[in-house]
Amino acid sequence: MTSTAQAPQSGAGTAHPEHLGHVIFIAAAAAMGGFLFGYDSSVINGAVEAIRDRYDIGSAALAQVIAIALIGCAIGAATAGRIADRIGRIRCMQIAATLFTISAVGSALPFALWDLAFWRIVGGFAIGMASVIGPAYIAEVAPPAYRGRLGSFQQAAIVVGIAISQLVNWGLLNAAGGNQRGHLMGLEAWQVMLGVMVIPAALYGLLSFAIPESPRFLLSVGKRERAKEILVEVEGKGTDLDKRVAEIEHAMKSEHRSTFKDLLGGGFFFKPIVWVGIGLSVFQQFVGINVAFYYSSTLWQSVGVDPTDSFFYSFTTSIINILGTVIAMIFVDRIGRKPLALIGSVGMVVGLALEAWAFSYHLVDGKLPATQGWVALVAAHIFVLFFALSWGVVVWVMLGEMFPNRIRAAALGVAAAAQWIANWAITASFPSLADWNLSGTYVIYTVFAALSIPFVLRFVKETKGKALEEMG
Ligand code: GLC
Repeated sequence: MTSTAQAPQSGAGTAHPEHLGHVIFIAAAAAMGGFLFGYDSSVINGAVEAIRDRYDIGSAALAQVIAIALIGCAIGAATAGRIADRIGRIRCMQIAATLFTISAVGSALPFALWDLAFWRIVGGFAIGMASVIGPAYIAEVAPPAYRGRLGSFQQAAIVVGIAISQLVNWGLLNAAGGNQRGHLMGLEAWQVMLGVMVIPAALYGLLSFAIPESPRFLLSVGKRERAKEILVEVEGKGTDLDKRVAEIEHAMKSEHRSTFKDLLGGGFFFKPIVWVGIGLSVFQQFVGINVAFYYSSTLWQSVGVDPTDSFFYSFTTSIINILGTVIAMIFVDRIGRKPLALIGSVGMVVGLALEAWAFSYHLVDGKLPATQGWVALVAAHIFVLFFALSWGVVVWVMLGEMFPNRIRAAALGVAAAAQWIANWAITASFPSLADWNLSGTYVIYTVFAALSIPFVLRFVKETKGKALEEMG
């Protein structure tokens, strides 16, 4: 991998190419949690109508069954940091993988609505854990010059997970004759959609046995020799081990395992840096990105696109999402996190404002006028592209690296929990907001995208190329 990334400012060197290959494998394995995050959070779309039909419930109850997983995510994210600090990053991944597997089986074979909801909460808990542990672990094992790129594996895996879940749902739906309740392998199609997740979940569990514990965690529990071995494994034989260990230990000096209390201070309950993390999370969600993924078919059908085409557009936005993520991976260590976020915000304002404009037109025969229909479609793709090449990647990378060692896992947990709550707020409010005024809803998202610009300029510090020990 050639890179014009700036030389790191501390003793933490760039990896030799042979180690880089190994570090890429490690980051990719840890990012399997991101794949499950993307897959699990969007797979439910394909099952919604079947669940409504089978349990004979109204929209409000249905929305609760769907949104309840996000509450599980928030709880999982909030607790993962403490679990990871206590028992290690790898064991935390193994717990998440186990919960993913159990929840996939439980959700696929529910006795009743209540236990389906229960298994979705369990799955949500695992997603929340994976959303914290992936970025934290990757940031801790990656050499600084490649940390952004390796950290973006998490978002890459999330977006691939979303796209694959759409493809699998589509394939299973077709195989079941276009009916979510059609029979497949002795089950209904929607049950298979939820059950298929055992495959990546088991793979995540297996891969976690093939990757090393984070050297920073090992040092925090006094396992110096093992930590040194892993530093050689990820940073290369040329690494000045004593110097690296001294640097990390110096940064952790007077440290104890972080607790919630360590996040407090600074006059506004949390420390300022924790608020910046929460702000990044909330802005990432308040631009309405998940409306584009969780409600895409509903959105397109409400402006007159027919159901088959609406599936197609959901998929094209996913492809654009992957493309944007690749662009971000190329640039995140070159131009840095802040410039990328700012470019993304400007592009999102343009895309969202155009959507608001297009949706402000009255439907004629249940459709938007031709020009506005096209503008809405193109604008939605512009919005997703700019989100993907900026806030999608930048937020997860920064949350993994921006906090000082001592509070990293706990602070990331709080910021990620805030993100799940913000996601829930947007997801749960969209149907009512859209009934009120679709264009007005997009004006709200546009305002948040615009406000993210002064937020980044004023509060976010660049983390490109710095050693984790320099954060704080
Ligand atoms: C980010 C967001 C997630 C969203 C995804 C879309 O990972 O955190 O909520 O679904 O991007 O690509």
